[in-house]
Amino acid sequence: MGYDAQEFDIQKVVQDDKAHVWHHLAQHKSFENSDPMVIVEGKGMRVWDAKGNEYLDAVSGGVWTVNVGYGRESIAKAVHDQLIKLCYFAGVHGNVPGAMFAEKLIEKMPGLSRVYYSNSGSEANEKGYKIVRQIANKRNGGKKHKVIFRERDYHGTTITALSSTGQMERKDQYGPFTPGFVEMPHCCQYRSQYEDDTDYGVKAARELENVILREGPDTVGSLILEPITAGGGVITPPEGYFETIQEICKKYGVLLHIDEVVCGVGRTGKWFGYQHYDVKPDIVTMAKGVASGYAAISCTVTTEDVFNEFKEEPSDRMGYFRDISTFGGCTAGPAAALENMRIIEEENLLENVTNMGEYLMGRLYELKDKYSIIGDVRGKGLFVGLELVKDRGTKEPVEESVAMKVAADCLQQGVMIGRTNRSFRDLNNTLCLSPALISTKDDLDEIVTSLDVAFSNLNG
Ligand SMILES: Cc1ncc(COP(=O)(O)O)c(C=O)c1O
Repeated sequence: MGYDAQEFDIQKVVQDDKAHVWHHLAQHKSFENSDPMVIVEGKGMRVWDAKGNEYLDAVSGGVWTVNVGYGRESIAKAVHDQLIKLCYFAGVHGNVPGAMFAEKLIEKMPGLSRVYYSNSGSEANEKGYKIVRQIANKRNGGKKHKVIFRERDYHGTTITALSSTGQMERKDQYGPFTPGFVEMPHCCQYRSQYEDDTDYGVKAARELENVILREGPDTVGSLILEPITAGGGVITPPEGYFETIQEICKKYGVLLHIDEVVCGVGRTGKWFGYQHYDVKPDIVTMAKGVASGYAAISCTVTTEDVFNEFKEEPSDRMGYFRDISTFGGCTAGPAAALENMRIIEEENLLENVTNMGEYLMGRLYELKDKYSIIGDVRGKGLFVGLELVKDRGTKEPVEESVAMKVAADCLQQGVMIGRTNRSFRDLNNTLCLSPALISTKDDLDEIVTSLDVAFSNLNG
């Protein structure tokens, strides 16, 4: 017998999970004396666990994914109908929702024109790296193949995506890494690297030029950046940053690859995070919010110029993008993504994110005035981080255990919040909020109240 979502023995499910499922990012030793949390149901902004506890989800499925909220029957129906019509065919051919979603997506991304489908953020980024390497091979014997990435950014879990990730503790134990990936310094003004902070954004961006000159401009093919660093501590780019980055990329013929896996499709109040800044990317990758987790889908989107590099005469046996992704041919992804996008438009969710984001930020500033442990509040739209410090003057970060205690207290009160999760050795001190794009003031008040109580309990 298969699985019936309505009928199952929940106690058996929990025991089966405990016996056989290897959870992500989890220390299983702790499950010897406790049960893992099994999430059973979700509706709107709320989820329920196997014990019947209800939680307000302030992190959209734990990792900023379920952007339009749980239980959307219209997405389920779109996927259901599509699966019956055609569940899959390899991406070497076209399919109906794939073509329709590409057209809708490109409407939102002026300057870009081609969509390559795969099924995870890591994979979408890997496509970007392969594009750069193949262009380098075509143009100069592979020399201009290096990819620069930024300290504190994350680009995925595969060995090469990790090779391009600027988070030391997350990378720990998984080397040796893929050659050709080079780090540039971060742009978190709160943790400024300079004695003099004037024009911080321009200064931090100029670091790119130093790295390009050190490596040799004829060896650098692309730069990958998160528009707003997510798991690395919710870092919004300082003023002037992207404009300077754009100018340097142009000067040295370096392709600009923006990783929108978290910010993409509405999280920050615009369709894409980079659209807040004056920047024209050559490659944009996205995953999580594309279909809000209702189906697995990722996209690597490029300009027509990039695409044209792969359009040689058919007699050229190697002159096309020699890449495939089996599950990039699943039609459930674009079918869900189309309906997800329709919902965002019909319910004016971008506007809601902007308004509710401002409201949330205002409430968090009030908390900052009340608790000196909050050193910095930053973010855009419904995407916010609170950096916790022992002392506002020295900015010494709190121990990770303090951030864990606050998150555990909120959970106890029925609110799930996120936190930076062992990306660094000494900066695991940022709490993360990324509630669904449908958030109301009442939802946000509930989140802020739980934080307020948790902070006051710390003092108590
Ligand atoms: C900015 C960013 N890029 C890429 C990824 C990797 O995505 P996936 O886990 O789907 O491979 C993530 C995942 O958290 C991410 O935050």
